[in-house]
Order: sequence, then C-alpha cells, then structure tokens
Amino acid sequence: MMPAAMPASTTPDDVKHANARYHDLAAHTYDAKWGIVYDALAQRQTVGKLRRALGGSEPRFGRALEVGAGTGYFTLNLLRAGVIEEAVATDISSGMLGALQSSAAELRLEVETVVAQASRLPFPDGSFDLVFGHAVLHHLPDLDAAFAELARVLRPGGTLAFCGEPSYHGDRLAAVPKRAALLAAPAWRRILGAPPRQNGGANGAIDKSGHHDAASEEDGLERIVDVHAFRPGDLVRHARRAELENVRVTGEELAASWFGWANRTLESTAAPDELPWLWYQWAYRGYLTLKRLDRAVLEPRLPATVFYNLLLSARNPA
Ligand SMILES: C[S@@+](CC[C@H](N)C(=O)[O-])C[C@H]1O[C@@H](n2cnc3c(N)ncnc32)[C@H](O)[C@@H]1O
Repeated sequence: MMPAAMPASTTPDDVKHANARYHDLAAHTYDAKWGIVYDALAQRQTVGKLRRALGGSEPRFGRALEVGAGTGYFTLNLLRAGVIEEAVATDISSGMLGALQSSAAELRLEVETVVAQASRLPFPDGSFDLVFGHAVLHHLPDLDAAFAELARVLRPGGTLAFCGEPSYHGDRLAAVPKRAALLAAPAWRRILGAPPRQNGGANGAIDKSGHHDAASEEDGLERIVDVHAFRPGDLVRHARRAELENVRVTGEELAASWFGWANRTLESTAAPDELPWLWYQWAYRGYLTLKRLDRAVLEPRLPATVFYNLLLSARNPA
C-alpha cells in the first residue's frame, strides 16, 4: 500500500511502535484478509517469487532468516516446499509471530521465532545462508541501518532476497483502477444485489458504548505504518551501500494488480458477507489468469518500475 500523508513530526520510533501495534491488532484476521494458506498452490507461488527474485535459479538454502515474517506466509510455505531447511522468523510484532507459531504447530513445522526489529537483529555475524522477506522493507524507517544489519548476519557468499515491495510508479498507476471502481461501484452493487457497506466508529478510538474501537485505531495507525514506495534504483542503492553485490531488481504484477485493486475497491463499498460466491470465484480465477499473462507477456518486456511489486536479490561478497 502507498504511504499516505504522515504527520511531519513522526519519528522512526513512532513508525516502529505503530507497526508493532498495528500488526498486533491485525494478527488474528491477517491470514483471512490476505488469503494466506499453506497449500500446494501457495508453495508454488512463494517458490516462484523467490526464483524470480533470484533470476531463475532453483532455490535451495540451509539456514534461513526471514525479517518481518508476519504470520509466516513465506517461511512456512518455503519450509513446506523444501526450499529452506531451517528457519528463523523475526518480526517487530509478537502477535504476528504468535499466529505464525500456531500455523507452524498445525503444519508440524519447526520454526524459531524472535521478536526483533530489522535494524537490530540479535544474531552473530554470518549466521544465515539466506536472509529474506516479503512486503516488509516499505515499513522500515531506517533502511540503511536495516540493510547493514541484514548484510552483517548473512554469511560470506550468502543470498539476500526480498519480494512484494511496493513500486512507486506501480502504485500510482494502480490509482486508475481504484478510481474507476469507485465510480462504477453503485451500478456494480445494483447488478449483484449487494447493499452498501455501513461504516461505524469513523473517527474516535472509543465507540458509542464506550468500548475501545480497534478498527478505528487500526485506521489511524495505517497512515503511519507504510513509509516507502520504491523506485528500482532506491533498492539498488540501499543494497550497494551495505556492500552487497550482484544486486538485481525486477518487477511483477501489472494486469493482475489492476484487476485485484478494482475488485477490492468494489468489495470495500458493499456490505461484507452479502456478495455472491460466484463473485469471489470470478475475482480469484481472473486474478490467477492475469498473473499468468503478466508473467508470460508483460514482465519480460516492460521495465520493473511500472509493475506493482518489486523484487530484490543480492549476494554478500564471498
Ligand atoms: C505487510 S506485513 C508482511 C508480513 C509477511 N511477511 C507477509 O508477507 O505476509 C509486514 C510485517 O513487517 C513487520 N514489521 C514492520 N516493521 C518492522 C520492523 N521495523 N522490524 C521488523 N519487522 C517489522 C510487521 O509487524 C509485519 O508483520
């Protein structure tokens, strides 16, 4: 998501506290909200993202560290797929890591979890063969400190890979389908027979009954937690300043992201649970089809910067 206008006085510590709180609040609904599962398709998707970040080579790693691991989307799927042998998952939010541990227990996977911020990792130098993450760099207010720390804990010759980072231009382009969907929403709701969504507890953190309103607190925090959207050159510079080499940035998702944003914007205007099952089928299958189109036709031809997500890989000098 694009960084919204953040109060000018916000400090790096404010951003970190907001991230910990926001993700603690989000932890119990996070997997359902983002459709996170650990089946064969999710394994193929995560392995595919890692492979694309690395430039096509078949990924296999020993001891791996994920930063900002959240509820475990990448770590648990990559462990299940046999791409990493041993996993340590860190995050600034203990709530997210609690959800990760529950899923790991259900899947009978061993993962060490450590609450830690990306710019202060409690591991000795050269501890990991792979340091990776998904959708996390854009939350870090002190990127140079974080990259220095990621490089420090990577063994000589080890691999760094980050996927799912928001692209500055890709995000701006995604405003087009969002705006179009808002205009089309009333007609779309009429066709599907879905009543409009009623918003409750809009501004305060206390609802009418005097209870703490977690949803409106989340809305407030959401304006603080995202601090970057990247141009490819930004990521290259941060990696090089940490003395990493073989730095590579690519892009993914264009048609699929436009389709996904249009659908999510439409859905956000309708009463939850009132949309027909067929709508979700259309949204899900259409998204997967357009992802294939992106991969086969658009990603090999267009510059990384127009895509919605950026992928970064680099290597620690041997
Ligand atoms: C968008 S979520 C992504 C989670 C997971 N990687 C995924 O793809 O589902 C971002 C994660 O980064 C974590 N995070 C935010 N700021 C952080 C920081 N300074 N250090 C470590 N983790 C952080 C959040 O708590 C959250 O779990």
